[in-house]
Amino acid sequence: MKHLERRLVERKLKLLQMQTIEGAHAGNIYRIEVMDEDHRRSRYVYKEFAADRSNEVEIYSKAKEYIQPFSKYVDVWDTPPQAILMRDLQSPLKKEFKGLSDRNKRKQIVSILERLAVLHSSTIRLVANELPTHRVTSEWRDWCLDQLTRLRSRSQWMNSDWINVIKDSYDQLDVTHYNPRSPLVLTHGDPHLENIFILDEQVWFIDWEWTTVASPLRDITILVQDLYDSKWIQFVKATYHECLKNKQFHISDEDYRRDYHYLYIDHTTMMLAWEIEKYFQGYTMEEEIQRMIDFKIGELNRVREEELGL
Ligand SMILES: Nc1ncnc2c1ncn2[C@@H]1O[C@H](COP(=O)(O)OP(=O)(O)O)[C@@H](O)[C@H]1O
Ligand SMILES: [Mg+2]
Repeated sequence: MKHLERRLVERKLKLLQMQTIEGAHAGNIYRIEVMDEDHRRSRYVYKEFAADRSNEVEIYSKAKEYIQPFSKYVDVWDTPPQAILMRDLQSPLKKEFKGLSDRNKRKQIVSILERLAVLHSSTIRLVANELPTHRVTSEWRDWCLDQLTRLRSRSQWMNSDWINVIKDSYDQLDVTHYNPRSPLVLTHGDPHLENIFILDEQVWFIDWEWTTVASPLRDITILVQDLYDSKWIQFVKATYHECLKNKQFHISDEDYRRDYHYLYIDHTTMMLAWEIEKYFQGYTMEEEIQRMIDFKIGELNRVREEELGL
């Protein structure tokens, strides 16, 4: 940890304690406690990237002015080992969300949506940047079909209809050639509940690795992936349109619905493949993955039928 200690000394901070945050991360992540010259203690998180996963550092250097108000980044190092230093935001929302009352769930969802509406409306028709633009491709469709095929060879309970649901959703709607209708904005790109925190009554986002220019519905259709409850998914869909209108960001009902549905199909398929991967790696129990697959396949069918007017 020579690099970290030297980097802290340059900022006149002394390392007191350090703890690894375990998990399959894009690098090494540590929670640290430091002391400044006036003997004040504070807590940070230091994320040091693996050489092939340092996109977040590049994104940050390209879009710092937009990201800064929504993150608690303190410092970024672009020289090896590339790393970022952030305020310790404590626990991600995912841990506590399941146990909340409906009233508090609603409150937290609305806070997140309002915060995303600020990010999206403040970066509308973003120009003069070098950020990539998000495109729907066949990547998640192909990955998910591969994962379901692997699942079939390993388990008795795999239902072959699931493969058809994925194919039908993409093929009948021609999802892989979809062009978004909304004006393009800066999107976080991965706002699931492990990347969202609430601290000091404000919503904060970490992990900007997948930031691109895209329809705002890109973020919303990723956010809903952790909800596993149609009631809340419908609530998010309806509420976010209102949040955008309140920010004078107008999208017609039809354009909003289409962006939402197409991106929802792509992201539900992506998360389905990822959840199956976590099951293969031993992070998810069999009953749990069956429940997740059932729910997501049901959602894909529902949205495909709704979009086709069936
Ligand atoms: N600033 C922070 N405050 C508190 N916890 C954090 C912070 N940054 C990261 N973490 C913890 O580490 C986990 C992984 O960090 P993240 O940046 O999302 O890496 P990855 O790219 O591997 O998902 C988060 O889900 C969170 O639990
Ligand atoms: Mg993350």
